[in-house]
Amino acid sequence: MASVQTPLEVVLVLHFLTNYTARHNHTVTNFQQSHLSPRRSKVLLTGPTKSPDISRHLCLPPGVTPVSAELRRDRGTPALQQICHTPQLKKLDHSLLMSPNQRLKTLTNHLQTPKMKLLYPTSLHIDTKSLEGFSVELHPYDVTQPIPESLIDAEFLVTWSNKASNLRDAASRMKNLRWIQSLAAGPNDVLAAGFDASRVSITTGSGLHDETVAEHTLGLLLNAARRFYEMRDYQSRGEWPGHLGGAQPDRAPGTFRTLKGANVTIWGFGNIAKCLAPVLTALGANVTGVARSTGVRNGFEVVAEDRLQDVLPKTDALVMILPGSASTNGALNAQRLALLPKHAWIVNVGRGTSVDEDALLEALEKGSIGGAALDVFSAEPLPKESKLYAAPNLILSPHAAGGRPREAEALIAYNLRRILAGQELKNII
Ligand SMILES: NC(=O)c1ccc[n+]([C@@H]2O[C@H](COP(=O)([O-])OP(=O)(O)OC[C@H]3O[C@@H](n4cnc5c(N)ncnc54)[C@H](OP(=O)(O)O)[C@@H]3O)[C@@H](O)[C@H]2O)c1
Repeated sequence: MASVQTPLEVVLVLHFLTNYTARHNHTVTNFQQSHLSPRRSKVLLTGPTKSPDISRHLCLPPGVTPVSAELRRDRGTPALQQICHTPQLKKLDHSLLMSPNQRLKTLTNHLQTPKMKLLYPTSLHIDTKSLEGFSVELHPYDVTQPIPESLIDAEFLVTWSNKASNLRDAASRMKNLRWIQSLAAGPNDVLAAGFDASRVSITTGSGLHDETVAEHTLGLLLNAARRFYEMRDYQSRGEWPGHLGGAQPDRAPGTFRTLKGANVTIWGFGNIAKCLAPVLTALGANVTGVARSTGVRNGFEVVAEDRLQDVLPKTDALVMILPGSASTNGALNAQRLALLPKHAWIVNVGRGTSVDEDALLEALEKGSIGGAALDVFSAEPLPKESKLYAAPNLILSPHAAGGRPREAEALIAYNLRRILAGQELKNII
């Protein structure tokens, strides 16, 4: 029974009513050979038959397996009904009793059974060649427009930088939708669009942005430590920032001037952090992670939030890479900010909502922290009237860390294969 519960890419139901004879072999074999893909298809034999072992007579293409014989007489079982209602079912029913012409017509009709559709966005280049070979139709769509009527019955949707109006429209009109693959690591846009969570699985693009965000974060940390932002301020005023050049104390206590020997805490120790941490270590930093579960990950100690009171007072740079969710809302609040040393910097490349921006502004203005480099904000673009623009020691980066998913095709193909096989998806929310 287990094999039946696995959704099949192509299912051929041969309904042998009575008197199966070898003369039907020709039709059946032809149909199979032209329409069943080796290793992907299974043949389901159903209905009462006088032949004790029909599958023996069928010349199945290599790799095509007949579903177990116990189902043969069992058309009414829930498992069988489930199969009969799978949208990808190709059904050859009673056709063995038809005249050759009728048979041909039936087979042609079956050939025209629509395949499932996967819609991919034109907002980035997708190498569709690497998505070929699945029994799905691939269709491009414009993420700024409503989904065209001809594609509204699609089962699978890949999203990237979609307009909110496009996603809302898709949520209300795509009634067959079963799976959304977002290419964003934090698909807050898809989550906010109102898709029916009981019907639609959502998977994130976590893993596609590791290198780009890690690189950007390293840049922000070095900017903070080596004070490039301050040099640029002097330059734009036509002044020489003499205090930043020449002989300098090395690793003076109570400063964040280098990664060598610095304690860097990464709050949100997922895929991006695992890419960033070894780079920081290579430059001499001591890295500690904070996440929901504790333990050693990729060789780095990861503690839970209940240890923040021990970790934050020793932190020289706090890197926030938390997702935007109810549980991370305002995670870095006034109390936790107060635990940081006066020279500590905060770098946020996760989601703006994880930082209490009012409390951060106050800390910057009071000089109770060293500075902040923010790539993400609770409202983006940051409104013109925000006081953060003029806050001291604030480096503003306009959500520029990621934005370039890499090797998206491999993730789409991986999850497409899994959903067609009824297996659990990667990065599922
Ligand atoms: N700035 C950009 O351009 C940009 C680009 C890409 C991604 N991002 C953001 O970065 C976030 C992380 O991406 P990722 O790929 O590294 O994600 P990930 O692999 O899913 O990692 C998320 C990490 O956050 C931790 N976490 C989640 N909720 C938490 C909570 N309530 N308290 C403490 N820790 C919590 C998780 O802990 P456990 O491991 O214990 O579950 C995990 O370590 C994304 O969600 C996205 O918002 C930003």
